[in-house]
Amino acid sequence: MKVSIASDHAGFEQKQLLAAYLVECGHEVIDRGPQSADRVDYPDFAVLVGEDVAAGTAQRGVLVCGTGIGMAIAACKVNGVRAANIVSTEFAALCREHNDANVITLSGRFVSLEDNKAILDTFFATEFGGGRHTGRVQKIMDIESK
Ligand code: RB5
Repeated sequence: MKVSIASDHAGFEQKQLLAAYLVECGHEVIDRGPQSADRVDYPDFAVLVGEDVAAGTAQRGVLVCGTGIGMAIAACKVNGVRAANIVSTEFAALCREHNDANVITLSGRFVSLEDNKAILDTFFATEFGGGRHTGRVQKIMDIESK
């Protein structure tokens, strides 16, 4: 799968390692930065990944900051993005099955690298469930045109 990834300074170290892990897993990775651990503002990077996913340049996005929360809030402002801040494999499965999340946001400070790898494995392996969830996701997307 084509995956766009970015972080801020708090997520930089894990972003580097998770990008390499995704390549190992066979994904094609677009790294939107940053390229150092210097202090940056997470919305500047959330928008780059959000736009990649919204435009279809990437099928999925991965964002890492201290908590993942700011990245999720910012990425969801890009039309077409359904970003979910995920800290467990159970929620990783549910954000795909129920919400058709196309961007996952991770915590570089509170979740270990190994746990984030497992979360990504689940996120990429889980399909949207469709059925009763389809109309609900459509209602989320309809909010963008109000
Ligand atoms: C940076 O200190 C921190 O605020 C950021 O990484 C993120 O956790 C925001 O939600």
